[in-house]
Amino acid sequence: MNILLIGNGGREHAMAWKISQSKKLTKLYIAPGNAGTSFVGENININPLDFVAVKNTVLEKNIQLVIVGPEEPLVKGIHDFFLNDHELKNIPIIGPRKIAAQLEGSKDFAKEFMQRHNIPTAKYFTVYKNNFNEGISFLETMNPPYVLKADGLAAGKGVLIINSLLEAKTSLKEMLDGQFGEASKKVVIEEFLKGIELSVFVLTDGNSYITLPEAKDYKRIGENDSGLNTGGMGAVSPVSFATKEFMSKIDINIIQPTINGLKKDNIPYKGFIFFGLINVEGEPFVIEYNVRMGDPETEAVIPRIKSDIVELFEAVANNKIHEKSIEISTEYCTTVMLVSKGYPETYEKGHEIRLNEKINDSLVFHAGTTLANGKIITSGGRVIAVSSLGKSKSEALAKSYANANNILFEGKNFRKDIGFDLL
Ligand code: AMP
Ligand code: GLY
Repeated sequence: MNILLIGNGGREHAMAWKISQSKKLTKLYIAPGNAGTSFVGENININPLDFVAVKNTVLEKNIQLVIVGPEEPLVKGIHDFFLNDHELKNIPIIGPRKIAAQLEGSKDFAKEFMQRHNIPTAKYFTVYKNNFNEGISFLETMNPPYVLKADGLAAGKGVLIINSLLEAKTSLKEMLDGQFGEASKKVVIEEFLKGIELSVFVLTDGNSYITLPEAKDYKRIGENDSGLNTGGMGAVSPVSFATKEFMSKIDINIIQPTINGLKKDNIPYKGFIFFGLINVEGEPFVIEYNVRMGDPETEAVIPRIKSDIVELFEAVANNKIHEKSIEISTEYCTTVMLVSKGYPETYEKGHEIRLNEKINDSLVFHAGTTLANGKIITSGGRVIAVSSLGKSKSEALAKSYANANNILFEGKNFRKDIGFDLL
């Protein structure tokens, strides 16, 4: 079959690489893709938020399956657009409808959902302009640090963790006054949970699900988890504290109630669910839902999946995921993200990427790259994810770091301590 994958990051290159190995594939298109995806499929230079352009591509290229990588097209209703169009309505899309995408698109929606279905999460209160005083009273009942979250999508910047009550009150007002635009017209105040984070993923048809390998993401720019938050500077899979026992708690207390909750609420769901979890003294809590795979987690998760991923997508489309299982490698996969000078603030782009020597013991997934006159040029803050498999975490990391040094571009930066906190 012909497949269209939407997105242009490292997540999409990893996904495209995996799809390209499927025996079910005739031709893979990526919209818009990056330099890396052009080596495993054909890039189509359209904006994924231009649903009419997506439709034209689907019809022109005779696409039989669409996979949506990032959240924004989902939150903006790409799946609903397909269902409402008589020429597209029978073409399966991996990625939920708008209503379910609210699990990521609205923190308040996600919190209400978790509360309704008894899913463990931090205590919270949602504040609007007209209940501001109640919000202040709620803050006064909490202990520091104070967690304030813009309700809507804010490009990963909408969460503030503040130590002083006075500052938290000021920030609450600033957020409601539009600090993050429309996204912070509603603010969720949350209890601070102390623990170590874990990313868990399922692929579901809305009835049943399969659990993918878990991963740990390294969000801060600096070593030892210091400095500003980024999209993610690296990832490791598997995760040492995600023992059988802990994963079973996650399954019973979090994954099953989520899938059952969607069913009870009559919310159809076909696609990935990403559970952003925190381990608080051995108990898992949900920090956030995402309605897509993580980036850079995907770059560490996908190489460990042995099954044909297109067969899994087909099973999602045909409500047959209960008949499927997933074969996972016991090897470790580690991902080190190479980023541009300045990232996550204003960063440089347009530098040529070169190799010191040919790389054959790592997977090089492009994130922010583009082709210009036959050269590969940096075009994003996160540039390249270097993923490696190994029998141990340290063997995998040694390969990722050797190749991180083999890939050259001006202003390259990367964290030297990915996996530092895991056994
Ligand atoms: P979110 O966008 O909801 O994932 O939040 C971004 C980051 O803020 C998370 O990855 C956590 O590191 C941190 N965070 C969010 N909510 C909480 C919380 N309730 N307690 C502690 N840390 C949090
Ligand atoms: N790596 C975190 C995310 O994709 O949201």
